[in-house]
Amino acid sequence: MSSFLILYGTGEGQTAKIAERIAAAIGERGHEATTIDVGDRPDSFSLESYDAAVVGASIHVGKHQDAVREFVAANRDALSAMPTAFFQVSLSSATEENREEAAGYVESFLTETGWHPDRIGQFGGALRFSEYGFLKRLLMKRIAKDLLAETGEADGDVEFTDWEAVDAFAADVAAFVEGRLGVTPEGTEPTSP
Ligand SMILES: Cc1cc2nc3c(=O)[nH]c(=O)nc-3n(C[C@H](O)[C@H](O)[C@H](O)COP(=O)(O)O)c2cc1C
Repeated sequence: MSSFLILYGTGEGQTAKIAERIAAAIGERGHEATTIDVGDRPDSFSLESYDAAVVGASIHVGKHQDAVREFVAANRDALSAMPTAFFQVSLSSATEENREEAAGYVESFLTETGWHPDRIGQFGGALRFSEYGFLKRLLMKRIAKDLLAETGEADGDVEFTDWEAVDAFAADVAAFVEGRLGVTPEGTEPTSP
């Protein structure tokens, strides 16, 4: 059994929801998975308490959460010494035409932080018009105009996250960490070389 940290930044909660799903999938493999909002780290927080780290952030007006970027930049050396993964949540990942834009956000994040995660996941996010204030509503109607036209949504809450892709990412990350650390999922026997 290994201990996984899943640290994330979130605006309206979609990245938190995805982090919880990743933690559940990793937990089902017999590992310990702890989710922490980057802004709510306890004083006692230390990366050294974990065997592996998964970091998640969402895109708001072309940027990831500052707190996530700053955390990664400040802890780059410690992150480089352990198995790690990064996942990004954005509307750009919800459509084929905007996948390149989403990949560009990832590229910028890695360049700015100098971090090289072992695995990278990109997931579509959500629109939560019921939670947006007036200005955010206007902004999002403009940003998501084409997407809303495609889905036939006007201003309801809609989720574009592919949960199977999230589960597959979690399984891939867990398998990578198991291989790297030489541990096996709970309930299975180590295979002989
Ligand atoms: C104010 C605002 C700005 C956004 N800007 C972008 C953007 O520039 N590009 C993009 O792909 N998605 C953008 N999104 C979509 C978010 O990435 C998406 O809603 C995601 O689910 C947010 O995750 P979170 O709730 O964890 O913050 C924006 C969302 C909001 C509310």
